[in-house]
Amino acid sequence: MDTKRRQILKAGLLGTGAIAFGSPIHLSTAKNNAKLNSKSLRILILGGTGFLGPHMVREALKRGHDVTLFNRGRTNNALFPDLLTLIGDRNKGLDALLGHNWDVVIDNSGYVPRHVKDSARLLAPITSHYIYTSTVSAYASLAKPLNEDAPLAKIADESIETVTPETYGPLKALCEKKVAEEFGENRLSILRPTYVAGPGDHTDRYTYWLARTLLGGEMVWPGSPEDMIQIIDVRDLAKFTIDVADKNIIGTYNTVTPAGVFTMGDLLNDSLAVTGAEMVPVWMDYEFIQAQGNIDESAFPIWIPPISEYAGAAQVSGEKSVAQGLWNRPTRETARDTVAWWRTLPSERTENIRAGLSLQLEKELLKRKTSFQ
Ligand SMILES: NC(=O)c1ccc[n+]([C@@H]2O[C@H](COP(=O)([O-])OP(=O)(O)OC[C@H]3O[C@@H](n4cnc5c(N)ncnc54)[C@H](OP(=O)(O)O)[C@@H]3O)[C@@H](O)[C@H]2O)c1
Repeated sequence: MDTKRRQILKAGLLGTGAIAFGSPIHLSTAKNNAKLNSKSLRILILGGTGFLGPHMVREALKRGHDVTLFNRGRTNNALFPDLLTLIGDRNKGLDALLGHNWDVVIDNSGYVPRHVKDSARLLAPITSHYIYTSTVSAYASLAKPLNEDAPLAKIADESIETVTPETYGPLKALCEKKVAEEFGENRLSILRPTYVAGPGDHTDRYTYWLARTLLGGEMVWPGSPEDMIQIIDVRDLAKFTIDVADKNIIGTYNTVTPAGVFTMGDLLNDSLAVTGAEMVPVWMDYEFIQAQGNIDESAFPIWIPPISEYAGAAQVSGEKSVAQGLWNRPTRETARDTVAWWRTLPSERTENIRAGLSLQLEKELLKRKTSFQ
């Protein structure tokens, strides 16, 4: 498929910005609930305050680990008032990390190879284990079902640092390489999630389907109910990430719901079940959507259109992770909790959803479909 489609999909996998969610977590509360492990780890989380990070922090605290955060202090900076937070910008320097040491580092904020190289170089002598959060966008091609051995994307100019929908995946692949150069393969874990879903998602890509269903009425659903999709619940990813730290699980793992199981029809059923809304689905096939000119597939986040270049995009094998203990909760639970979280957000946020078809375009599409029939 064309570059535009590639950009759309890559954009779909790119997380941008962050919003506040949840109440501040006090260490005393976390410790009271702690199921202390035989070994309490000192864990440094680079980027612990965005979407994925807080879930990992909570999971680590629950298990009695000692967590340090490193970030710029811009995102959700009141979320973990009791944790040691080292303030710094990966683009400017890592001085705040000096004079410390950790058992494990979890890198959630590595998008630029130079940043990842610098942090890995500095941390290699003072940290035993590096867990790098990558993405399935790092693969060179999503045309066929794949596992962790599939070739990775390459960037023609390795000095590029601008993260765009085009460069995101190849840059993440290069970041993986940079951290491997510093840590070696025996102290490194690379996790490659697909679309991450659940409470706190600032991208609204999965949330869109639920939030739109809540509004009721006729709703456009693209493709067919059989179309395969893949996500991972942010809490399952967090739990697996902390398992990787706890059990020192080394290697590269796709973190996804099982390939070929979750479909658009399931997403529809989940959406109806957890919202109780009177939404009427109107399925529209890809050819019809494509023929509309001003409506492209980016209006339908998570859905994979029937295009050969992306035929394997929802068939990424997560078997290797499952063998190491990744557990995927029923998607209905993800849907239920995402809606519960969405309902806690202020109206100025929920009225400005960040992904999906606009109501105006949807109305237009429904009108055109009716006159087309
Ligand atoms: N979200 C998804 O669906 C998805 C899918 C696949 C892979 N991933 C990967 O998962 C990781 C985490 O994604 P996310 O959505 O949780 O990210 P996010 O919400 O954007 O969180 C970014 C975190 O990094 C910190 N940060 C950002 N820039 C920084 C800088 N220059 N220096 C220091 N700290 C910085 C932020 O805090 P401050 O702003 O305070 O610095 C925040 O804590 C990413 O590596 C992404 O590639 C995400």
